[in-house]
Amino acid sequence: MRSTKDLQEEILHWKKENDVCILAHAYQSQNILEIADVTGDSYALSVQAAKAPQKTILMCGVRFMAETAKLLSPEKKVLLSHDGAGCPMAEQITPEELESLKKTYPGYAVVAYINTTARLKAHCDVCVTSSSAVSIIRRMENDRILFLPDCNLGAWVRSQVPEKTFAFVSGGCPVHQTLRAEDVRSARGAHPHAPVLVHPECPPEVAAMADFVGSTTEIMDFAAKDCAASFIIGTENSIVEHLQFLCPEKRFYPLSKDCVCHDMRLTTLQDVLDCVKGEGGTEIVLEPEVAAGAKRCIDAMLKLGG
Ligand code: 13P
Ligand code: SF4
Repeated sequence: MRSTKDLQEEILHWKKENDVCILAHAYQSQNILEIADVTGDSYALSVQAAKAPQKTILMCGVRFMAETAKLLSPEKKVLLSHDGAGCPMAEQITPEELESLKKTYPGYAVVAYINTTARLKAHCDVCVTSSSAVSIIRRMENDRILFLPDCNLGAWVRSQVPEKTFAFVSGGCPVHQTLRAEDVRSARGAHPHAPVLVHPECPPEVAAMADFVGSTTEIMDFAAKDCAASFIIGTENSIVEHLQFLCPEKRFYPLSKDCVCHDMRLTTLQDVLDCVKGEGGTEIVLEPEVAAGAKRCIDAMLKLGG
């Protein structure tokens, strides 16, 4: 039987041999993060995808992340680590539905969460990620924002940018949506000295009760730097494990045992090995008009995001 270490060594060998850059989202398993060239939140991965010098990019994450990498590095081969890894939120609004919404909200700038398909992005003005949404929307000239599809992230941004007018459509992350105010009360009861750190995809009542709201990387940075001895983590539960590796002297507790994204958990080390050997993964191919429109939207994010 091969050990995790054997598999990781084989991956490192083939990755070098075949000139592959591995990008891994922070929700991937620890053993995948260990062999990745770049790890981080959606924004960090987008920025690094544009800079990677290798011929092939392997995205260990979900499909919209691989599409974003392809948009930023169109000349490269971009692979998604597991064909079944989609983000359910990315499929919640179709371009046709958006075109009809634009008629209901004339004069509004259309801001898409990066967790959307390239087809939808091609119909939007600018993309945002959870870590860049507030600063980008503050910098936008338009004071009226049609924000989609995540109403929870939208409500969080509105609370930080009260000077602008927002319109939302119903949508959101089915994983973070499950977190409840009752989870915060019960976790605080069990760990009264632990700050509560949550992702802005959580419902507004959960974000309002938290000590810190931020992207996956921002949550990890906060927990690493803060002097508290323990923390309650309100995002995908892989972050609890990663933080425990990163800060062994501290303790981390999940806000709920059910905060698990099954799509993010699909990729295994064997999938990664198949991809770097050139024997697996799904190559991302985008229609030229979709790619041109979606790239404009991502470029606007990178420009306004600084
Ligand atoms: P981040 O932007 O924090 O990486 O979030 C991506 C995501 O899918 C959260 O559920
Ligand atoms: Fe999509 Fe939610 Fe999974 Fe993030 S956690 S990839 S938003 S389903």
